[in-house]
Amino acid sequence: MLRFPEGFRWGTATAAYQIEGAASEDGRTPSIWDTFSRVPGKVRNGDTGDIAADHYHRTAEDISLLKELGVTDYRFSVAWPRVQPSGRGPVSEKGLDFYRRLADALRDAGIRPVATLYHWDLPEELERAGGWPERRTAERFAEYAGLVADALGDRVATWTTLNEPWCTAFLGYGSGVHAPGRTEPVAALRAAHHLNLAHGLAVRALRAALPAGAEVSLTLNPHAVGALTGSDADRDAARRVDALGNRLFLDPVFHGRLPEDLVADTARLTDWGFVEGGDLAVIAAPLDSLGINYYAPTVVAAGSHDGPSPWPGAEPHVRFASTPGPRTAMDWPVDPDGLYGLLVRLRDELPGVPLVITENGAAYDDYADPEGDVHDPERVGYLRQHVGAVHRALGEGVDVRGYFLWSLLDNFEWAYGYGKRFGIVHVDFASQRRTPKDSARWYAQVIAHNGLTDG
Ligand code: FCB
Repeated sequence: MLRFPEGFRWGTATAAYQIEGAASEDGRTPSIWDTFSRVPGKVRNGDTGDIAADHYHRTAEDISLLKELGVTDYRFSVAWPRVQPSGRGPVSEKGLDFYRRLADALRDAGIRPVATLYHWDLPEELERAGGWPERRTAERFAEYAGLVADALGDRVATWTTLNEPWCTAFLGYGSGVHAPGRTEPVAALRAAHHLNLAHGLAVRALRAALPAGAEVSLTLNPHAVGALTGSDADRDAARRVDALGNRLFLDPVFHGRLPEDLVADTARLTDWGFVEGGDLAVIAAPLDSLGINYYAPTVVAAGSHDGPSPWPGAEPHVRFASTPGPRTAMDWPVDPDGLYGLLVRLRDELPGVPLVITENGAAYDDYADPEGDVHDPERVGYLRQHVGAVHRALGEGVDVRGYFLWSLLDNFEWAYGYGKRFGIVHVDFASQRRTPKDSARWYAQVIAHNGLTDG
């Protein structure tokens, strides 16, 4: 039996655009994902989030599922275009009411609501005005954060500003595989800085609006990056990916500085003149915890990468290597040691910062059998190993406070559409019928025992 500390938080995570649907109801305006998913060829099968898992209309049923699991916490995101339809100016009370009802119902069920303010659904109007590469988007975000905190601060005590700003900046504006689909290396670097700034300004707005004792956090997807070999060239490739994938966010947020090696690596592209005096101090506002999303490691070697890339400035020096071993349906390698190593690194680099695993999980090709059951032994295996890695890290003195499984429901997996299933509850998208998979029953046992009985 691998027992977790008393009070360890067990949750599941979702995101608004991936589950809510109701894309044009109650005054919601389009987000960049509504627009992007309509561009032919951008999302597999032409899928969109118009209906998704219809969570907007099935909230009560979904909260019952959470109750059956026995989670202590539930992480959801607030859709900016639902609560502030033009991305500036007045709020939509109808939009806010949805989240007020959600938070109330969770609390009635004894589940702590954990709100993320931005999980990738920028109001389309703000992208038309330039999007994240522009400084004013950061200012808009801080206003929005303050408004949502004013409206929900009496019922939600745990807040996250951004989810995975690396993806927003580099998949959205670098490789273009995510909305808004731009492939502009300098814009991607500008976006990364303005996301950091948006975070810092939002922390300030949240602290001003929330009661004392509220928890304010940020969720990153730090890359567990390793060099394929110990050669200098491979290690230099790993350093470059670490700079763009990790230190570009960790250094400003926790140390108030930009990584010098990254500024040098990207000198051909930009002089970083968009970083204004005082920005780094704003970005370094103290946080109560750091959220970590982890799925798979990143192994790199010296080489080059062609075509639009999420690694501006690093392309001529880096290739991404594939390693042997089991893989998920995303073709991502299964490597719990990557999570363990990341946690130990963060313990050393960020002393005194509590960590929370805000996402971890796996896609497999699940289906309901003739009896209506969904057996997903591979997912159970993946989860067991990763929860075990968290336990091992706790044993090494890493201060991990919680684990949120991605995801409660099968949902709209961004550019992969509905083809990739991450849920521990199966969703038949034609009927919207929910069926807990074997992994849901396994997770309920973990929560009930506060640990792994089969670890
Ligand atoms: C993360 C996202 C989340 C989900 C998982 C699989 O990068 O935050 O929305 O799509 O990947």
